[in-house]
Amino acid sequence: MPDRLSLDLNVNGEIETVTVRTSDTLLSVLRDKLHLTGAKRGCNQGVCGTCTVLINGEPMRGCLTLAVECEDAEIQTIEGLGEGSELSSVQMAFINTGAIQCGFCSSGMILTVTSLLKENPTATKEEIREGISGNLCRCTGYGKILEAALNALDGQSGEISR
Ligand code: FES
Ligand code: FES
Repeated sequence: MPDRLSLDLNVNGEIETVTVRTSDTLLSVLRDKLHLTGAKRGCNQGVCGTCTVLINGEPMRGCLTLAVECEDAEIQTIEGLGEGSELSSVQMAFINTGAIQCGFCSSGMILTVTSLLKENPTATKEEIREGISGNLCRCTGYGKILEAALNALDGQSGEISR
């Protein structure tokens, strides 16, 4: 395989043609070539979950996934989660519940919750807690995040309680 190659990536429903090195991670291609910076580069070694994107609907670590592995996959980033200018119900629930502080974990967390609730529409609080255990948040203490996920599950956008 040559060191550089042209790749067609399906990102948020659009085909993006990019020239990549075989060693480029999906995270670096999304952020540095496609300028989709919602997925964050936290630890860059598979620990924190801030780089999470959905690949064929499954939350995956962008920093551990090679771009060349994704050629036939559907990639969804936080930028493609809503409908046009409308935010998704999970995004709205996070905002309205006050589950976002610095925001560094939020895109990965929201994508993980989105996938989790789609796979398990009757998820319990404990199942949600387990489902987000790979996404680290240093700000919220996770309580508001769990509340936001439960609000989204109930079809509520939530309200900030102070
Ligand atoms: S940046 Fe990928 S897991 Fe931390
Ligand atoms: S809101 Fe700051 S890391 Fe989660």
